[in-house]
Amino acid sequence: MDANRKRLDIVGLCGSLRTGSLNGMALRLAGECMPPYMVLEVVEWSLVPPFNADVLELGIPVPVQRIRDRIARADGVVIATPEYNFSLPGMFKNLIDWVSRGVDQPLAHKPVAILSAATGPLGGARVQYDLRRVLLFVNAMVLVKPEVFIGNARSKFASDGQCIDEATRQFVTGQMDSFGRWIAQARALQQA
Ligand code: FNR
Repeated sequence: MDANRKRLDIVGLCGSLRTGSLNGMALRLAGECMPPYMVLEVVEWSLVPPFNADVLELGIPVPVQRIRDRIARADGVVIATPEYNFSLPGMFKNLIDWVSRGVDQPLAHKPVAILSAATGPLGGARVQYDLRRVLLFVNAMVLVKPEVFIGNARSKFASDGQCIDEATRQFVTGQMDSFGRWIAQARALQQA
């Protein structure tokens, strides 16, 4: 690694609120697999209320503002989400809806990488395309490839959350390497 390279501050968002979430494990794996110049902080969002435009008119709720500010400061965002009924978990979509409001919404031009873990064999293939569509609307700069779908995820992580599948670790390492380059490219594009 280039010793002078600026450290990249990455926010991690897990689409599942569940303790012991496989996607939480996938997110922590992404943190472990990042190049040394990237540092992941997983951000908790369970206190975000249901979106209601009447509430928004009174002001952005504190838990939402905290996440908006944290995303705004970050160099990039990694999202690991389950698929619920072929799409996004409702609570996670609710979070994105809150974050998306206002002219200074922090996902605009923000580099984002997506991965998903599922107990089934497809690894959440369908949710990723719905999430990409949502992130398109908010002008996020989503890494296209490599895609990471962690299927049969229960067999890929030990009960302590450690990844026990070398192929999964390698896929995630490849994606995080690409994400580091993507952040640099996204920055260059914005400065052009
Ligand atoms: C699921 N699950 C699931 N899996 C899948 O591959 N496609 C799907 O459409 C769904 N739908 C679905 C709906 C709901 C309401 C639940 C609770 C679950 C299974 C899902 O992959 C599994 O529960 C994961 O373990 C959820 O992710 P976390 O919480 O472990 O991160």
